[in-house]
Amino acid sequence: MSADAHIAAFIREHLPVVAVPGVPELRLHKAGPASGVGRLGDAAPYWAYWWGGGLALARHVLDHPAQVVGRRVVDLGAGSGLIGIAAARAGAGSVMASEIDPHARAAIALNAAVNQVTLAGIVGDITDGPAPDADLLLVGDVFYAPEVAARVTAFLDRCVAAGLEVLVGDPWRSPLPVERLTLLARYDVAETGMAKPAGVFAYRAG
Ligand SMILES: C[S@@+](CC[C@H](N)C(=O)[O-])C[C@H]1O[C@@H](n2cnc3c(N)ncnc32)[C@H](O)[C@@H]1O
Repeated sequence: MSADAHIAAFIREHLPVVAVPGVPELRLHKAGPASGVGRLGDAAPYWAYWWGGGLALARHVLDHPAQVVGRRVVDLGAGSGLIGIAAARAGAGSVMASEIDPHARAAIALNAAVNQVTLAGIVGDITDGPAPDADLLLVGDVFYAPEVAARVTAFLDRCVAAGLEVLVGDPWRSPLPVERLTLLARYDVAETGMAKPAGVFAYRAG
């Protein structure tokens, strides 16, 4: 069995498909107490868990479909694929998911199928390259560590300079570049079961 087939089989067998908290239109494979995701050897299986920024941005996109209808969307740091799947469901013209973790990329493909949406591509890290050929970048909870935030911020600055619109979802984690953000909406999200606030922001270059 190939590595990709192995991870896909593991996800299907051990990560149940559950409704997304606050986004009941969508369902995703997520880790439960008995999933044993540690057996995959992933240092940080972010894709297997809920993230406040992703929950807020997915809710926002579904509540404001005009934001994505007919547009070419990139979900940057896609994790489980939640935000890109929400954009596809809301009527995006095309959706590409970018994610550095190959296990996450396998989960994104499975989650897209569970929700009966088609993604135009599931790719790795694009932050070293030029702005993608897209209209809108959706960035959910990617400012979780200072070095990641610095890399993503430099990339988003290039994207905005190239004319892309960027929306960020985040629960005000400390590396969030608040000086570049304008709050558009606030959602109470249940990242860990308890409701806490997360914002959806418009990003402008520094
Ligand atoms: C906290 S998770 C959020 C996942 C998802 N956006 C959500 O909100 O549910 C952040 C994700 O960003 C990914 N990531 C970090 N740096 C990245 C990069 N340079 N390019 C693509 N993905 C990246 C991580 O692997 C991780 O899956």
